[in-house]
Amino acid sequence: MKLSLAVNGEPRAWEIRANETLLDVLRREGLRGTKRVCESGECGACAVIVKGLAVDSCIMLAAQADGAEVITIEGIAGPDNLHPVQQAFVENGSIQCGFCIPGMVVTAVNYLEEHPQPSEQEIRHVFVGNLCRCTGYKKPIEAVLAAARGGE
Ligand code: FES
Ligand code: FES
Repeated sequence: MKLSLAVNGEPRAWEIRANETLLDVLRREGLRGTKRVCESGECGACAVIVKGLAVDSCIMLAAQADGAEVITIEGIAGPDNLHPVQQAFVENGSIQCGFCIPGMVVTAVNYLEEHPQPSEQEIRHVFVGNLCRCTGYKKPIEAVLAAARGGE
């Protein structure tokens, strides 16, 4: 079947199977910043923004994204600069192995769009669907709070 959608602002038309997940299709089409880990909606490594909402792309059929605007981690940064959330992750030492980081960044960016001044408690809650085995969450949370403050 044919899937027509916009990915990171670019119109795309892909041939897909009806049972493929959005994660399968994005990675096959070269958008490998979206990570495959649990494939069961538990870890958040595969998070992308679909119609303005962060979702786990491993548990969403690609066909459900037909006609949608999809933003992946590749579409978060500008062509020359990191997104302020990414910059804050770098500056706060928030990245260890890095495997969970695209999902965390996508999730945080999506949340800050609607909640530009979050509390630490809110960010803790937002990351409840993003598993990280390395950082203990402290540094990523500090990074999101710093990005919300404008990098101070
Ligand atoms: S790979 Fe999708 S939630 Fe873990
Ligand atoms: S930095 Fe390694 S899993 Fe999060």
